[in-house]
Amino acid sequence: MIVRLSDGRDLPIEMYKARVVQKTTLPPIDQRLGAIEEAGYNTFLLWTKDIFIDMLTDSGTNAMSDNQLASMMVADDAYAGGESYRRLGTAVQDVLGLEYYLPCHQGRAAEHLLAKIFCRPGTVTPMNYHFTTTKAHFEMAGSRVLEIYRDDAMDTASENPFKGNLDLDKFQGVIDEYGASNIAFVRMEATTNLIGGQPFSMENLRQVYELAKQHRIPVVLDCSLVSENAYFIKCREPRYQDVSIAEIVREMMSLSDLIYLSGRKSTCVRGGLLATNNVDYFNQLKAWLPVYEGFITYGGMSSKEIEAMAVGLREMVDLDVASSSADLIQDFVDKMVARGIPAVTPAGGLAGHVDAMKFLPHVPQEQYTAGALAAALYLVSGVRSMERGTISMDRDEQGNDVPSDLELCRMALPRRVYTMSHVDYVVDRLAWLHAHADLVGGLEFFEEPPVLRFFTGRLRALDGWGHRLADAFRKDFGDQL
Ligand code: F0G
Repeated sequence: MIVRLSDGRDLPIEMYKARVVQKTTLPPIDQRLGAIEEAGYNTFLLWTKDIFIDMLTDSGTNAMSDNQLASMMVADDAYAGGESYRRLGTAVQDVLGLEYYLPCHQGRAAEHLLAKIFCRPGTVTPMNYHFTTTKAHFEMAGSRVLEIYRDDAMDTASENPFKGNLDLDKFQGVIDEYGASNIAFVRMEATTNLIGGQPFSMENLRQVYELAKQHRIPVVLDCSLVSENAYFIKCREPRYQDVSIAEIVREMMSLSDLIYLSGRKSTCVRGGLLATNNVDYFNQLKAWLPVYEGFITYGGMSSKEIEAMAVGLREMVDLDVASSSADLIQDFVDKMVARGIPAVTPAGGLAGHVDAMKFLPHVPQEQYTAGALAAALYLVSGVRSMERGTISMDRDEQGNDVPSDLELCRMALPRRVYTMSHVDYVVDRLAWLHAHADLVGGLEFFEEPPVLRFFTGRLRALDGWGHRLADAFRKDFGDQL
């Protein structure tokens, strides 16, 4: 929530209180240098003991509510026919208005099942933008992912409130070129993760849905960050100013044929969900669920998390919950912009992002600009961020790097975990790093897995720039910070 202060400033204020906390430590610079070297300059390979503020992701790292934790105590651990499954069903019906639903162990499991029933070799899957696991699953099933975003979606310094919109003309072009029967489905990702958590508008979703219906193309919504996208619709699409998050979410559901989500984000649990009013789709998915996930009433999830997901679904449409991280991210982005840091604007749904190619203009994409920035930020702050750039793209069949559309350093704000002083600290260290950007160099792989290499690949700092940067840091801040 934003409260207006007496001096006219807007303050994003926490609408919750912390009653359980976890201790953190700020490891000093020498420890951080050792840790990032050992991690092969890949922030995924750092250990918690070496991290001060963990902004790697908002996935599975959110603070759960008291009601979510309480619900876990009454979970029904039956292998089949569990009451927890039925309570989840009531929440799915009440919040999403969808009758058929299947739990699964996380978002990519839902993508795997979708790929199984919709994606065949020779088909294409158009979408507003891909997510890493989405692309991997659909393409492994033989369907080509087509990204049909508007031309300005890649402009990182923009005022376009809906950079996640799908381009209708390009969608029509895809239908004309491939034929509707070769389109597996059209996928809309609620706040497009990889281009900075940018939302789509309800108007755009309606137009996509109408065009898809004319051609009998299924519309699939990735609802992992649905409450944040709904919040942006409320704030940025004038017609929805007085409409509740709950009503906006219901309207979004009515403009889709099937939804799935990673429960690790908006619903603040660890699990996944598929839901639809189409009994045919449900039956096809249901057939595969026990093969890959588990019996249909638990789908690989712990029954405790199923209970908490039911509560999380209801809570995510509370305005105070839907806005909890988005308002802090807005503050984060405003502060970065004020310090001259090339942050992605407008502020998005899951993280503050920095355009690494503007931050480190001397580090070419072949040397993994965003990966270098994420490693450098850790080194000077103990803040773990995530590379979202060329390292996150796998090589093509010839073994060449595929340069990413954007090189972003993503600093996620898990819901209800960090505070404004954490944000202020990150902004300060980013500003220091920006002033010393010339000390940061590129990276090269020395260990590289063939698929989703960003998770476990290891790289080295070209010309040993990590040591140079640590020396400069010590000169300004001493050994202890
Ligand atoms: N879709 C979106 C939009 C996501 O952001 C994610 C995960 C997935 C699908 C896959 O879900 O992780 O539960 O299997 N995003 C995480 C992140 C990993 O850090 O942004 P999952």
